[in-house]
Amino acid sequence: MQKKERLEKILSNLGYGARKDVAYWIRSGWVMVNGEKAKSGSQKVLASEVMLEGKALDHPYGLTVVYHKPLDSVCSRKEEGRLIYSDFPERWLGRKPAISSVGRLDKQTSGLLILTDDGQLNHKITSPKHHIAKTYTVTLAETLKGDEAETFASGTLILDSEDTPCLPAELTVTGEKTATIVLHEGRYHQVRRMFGAVGNHVSSLQRTDIGALSLQSLNIQAGEYQTFEADTLLNLILGTTAI
Ligand code: URA
Repeated sequence: MQKKERLEKILSNLGYGARKDVAYWIRSGWVMVNGEKAKSGSQKVLASEVMLEGKALDHPYGLTVVYHKPLDSVCSRKEEGRLIYSDFPERWLGRKPAISSVGRLDKQTSGLLILTDDGQLNHKITSPKHHIAKTYTVTLAETLKGDEAETFASGTLILDSEDTPCLPAELTVTGEKTATIVLHEGRYHQVRRMFGAVGNHVSSLQRTDIGALSLQSLNIQAGEYQTFEADTLLNLILGTTAI
């Protein structure tokens, strides 16, 4: 059950503008509540009843996005480069709660990335307890030796500056320098560091699947995104529904 909130709070938390902007829009007659002109920013309403300039509000009850991260963009302000958020409507940056990425992809990795303001969804996708695998396609600088699949599956591989071994990961070799790898955890730059540990170097990396959700089934191009209800997305990831 959604609860009523002050109109000015709804609009400012959805990133539309500050309370003084909302007051101006109300005075100008641009805000409607249930088909009638809004009277005051302090009136308590359901977000679903509100229209601004003739349009329903944008994802008033939570925002979850599946994004095809392009190469050369960064997930965090701490890194240098073009932020992934520049591919989304500017208004989304003003939302409270904010959307944040579920895990990260590094600057030189493209592919599936989920962003959400739903803390529970974020936790379900990242927590090892939920066993959501992530699949990557990898191109390597050096020819594969043939024993990498065994090493990665062993559960004994320890990465530089770590002391717990990586969980077993499944490597499928698809060519002399190409493979897919399925991980069951998410450590910093994990795929690159795993191949580094076996004397190779990743020259291109794409995340193609998160659980049962695949980039291919979504058909979104680099830099594009699609919004989902959090429940629907979780079912797609768990494979309990298909696209
Ligand atoms: N492994 C990496 O090395 N980079 C990523 O972005 C994701 C997994």
